[in-house]
Amino acid sequence: MDKKKIVIAIDGFSSCGKSTFAKAIASKLGYIFIDTGAMYRAVTLYALEQGAIVDGVVDEARIVELLPEVEISFRFNEARGASDIYVNGVYAEERIRTIEVSNCVSRVSSIGEVREKLVAMQQQMGRSRGVVMDGRDIGTVVFPDAEMKIFMTADAGVRAERRYKELTAKGDDVTLEEILENVISRDKADMTRAISPLRRAEDALELDNSYMSVEEQMAWFMERYNEIVG
Ligand code: DC
Repeated sequence: MDKKKIVIAIDGFSSCGKSTFAKAIASKLGYIFIDTGAMYRAVTLYALEQGAIVDGVVDEARIVELLPEVEISFRFNEARGASDIYVNGVYAEERIRTIEVSNCVSRVSSIGEVREKLVAMQQQMGRSRGVVMDGRDIGTVVFPDAEMKIFMTADAGVRAERRYKELTAKGDDVTLEEILENVISRDKADMTRAISPLRRAEDALELDNSYMSVEEQMAWFMERYNEIVG
């Protein structure tokens, strides 16, 4: 008999490896993986392209005005084993990961109207269960009734090094210092914003993966998943 499908909510700090972990779980269980950070990045990218963010100055009122015209969708990419994000039908998976977007996304994600729109979309995408969703407020706001909640943490220095390797491998001209600064300032912004700040849900399991391989994380996960789903 098929096991019952559940919602797996994964929250935690930036660059903790949430997406890698969530993607591995989704592929193991045959679930849909939804990267909600990508959705906040997509809105940020659109705002940058439309001139609602200039030289790091975020025009919140303009972004709220632009919101109805931002259409976000996902299409499964066989080669990557995950979905790519599209903004108004245009492939945006790589353009949402630049340092420029990373530097502005916390500000954009603190706008109430942006969160309202994206949370509603996320709830809709997970309504039939069978999803692994990663973000900051999944276990607290989007799916407070998720059957399984995981809160991921990792040392800030370790996270900065991981992102540094990722970006320099792609040819981005960045320094480790600037990445570490970005990681620390995003942690602070994520935890202190007025709406839906990052916090661990009381019923979330905590996973510190600073010194764990993906295989070790999967073993940790499967043990707990089997306890929950039976
Ligand atoms: O996971 P990430 O680094 O791609 O997320 C990008 C930003 O979006 C991050 O600064 C926090 C924000 N975010 C959020 O506020 N709520 C979510 N559910 C997911 C991401």
